[in-house]
Amino acid sequence: FTPKRLLGQRVLITAGPTSEAIDPVRVVTNLSSGRMGYALALEAARAGACVTLVSGPTALPCPYGVERVDVRSAAEMHAQVMTRCAGSDLFIAVAAVADYRPVAPSAQKIKKSADTLSIDMVRNPDILAAVASRPDAPFCVGFAAESHDLDAYAQGKRVAKKLPLVVGNLVSDGLGSDDNQVVLYDDHGRHPLPRAAKTEVARAILEHVSRLMKEA
Ligand code: PMT
Repeated sequence: FTPKRLLGQRVLITAGPTSEAIDPVRVVTNLSSGRMGYALALEAARAGACVTLVSGPTALPCPYGVERVDVRSAAEMHAQVMTRCAGSDLFIAVAAVADYRPVAPSAQKIKKSADTLSIDMVRNPDILAAVASRPDAPFCVGFAAESHDLDAYAQGKRVAKKLPLVVGNLVSDGLGSDDNQVVLYDDHGRHPLPRAAKTEVARAILEHVSRLMKEA
């Protein structure tokens, strides 16, 4: 990998889960360790990019040379990304964003009473779709984590959000682990990468991205 392939590029990355409050002690969240997104941030910085990582709650240290912005909820992640995406050359959405949040989080701890509990939920903003639909959109890369039918769902997300590239992974391959096996989907088709450590996978993704950005 040419070490400075992204020299001078401004790269914005989301990573980790989001956490949506039910009450002061309970949340709804998605599973994500943040490892894949943090590996991309580190490798983009090593490749010479100026990297901002908007991160949901994780146990990981900030990658060397990267500016990290900590958020909790999807709404906070959305706000931080939208103030930073103008002027970015590349946006990579790796975060596992909770699709729904409780409509009215309780200010006080909800007490146990009935045997069942229903919580009204409302859709969160789609951060990647919002960035990709801007007139000044950076080159946008989406991720898709699926339990089955990876090709169909990943391609569907690429078409729905009009993205030049989606990185697909099976939940059983990518979630929480140190390595990953991904398939890249772009206008030229489907490109499976070999299973490898997330830093190595990140490097291969960025090589592919930098080739596509040159073509664009
Ligand atoms: O963090 P790790 O443990 O290393 O695991 C990595 C991972 C499996 C979380 C990662 O590789 C991955 O696949 N992330 C995407 C998870 C996912 O399934 O996203 P999604 O299908 O809900 O969303 C599709 C795309 O839209 C993603 O790029 C997502 O960041 C983005 N999105 C989704 C919803 C939303 N409200 N806003 C978004 O930006």
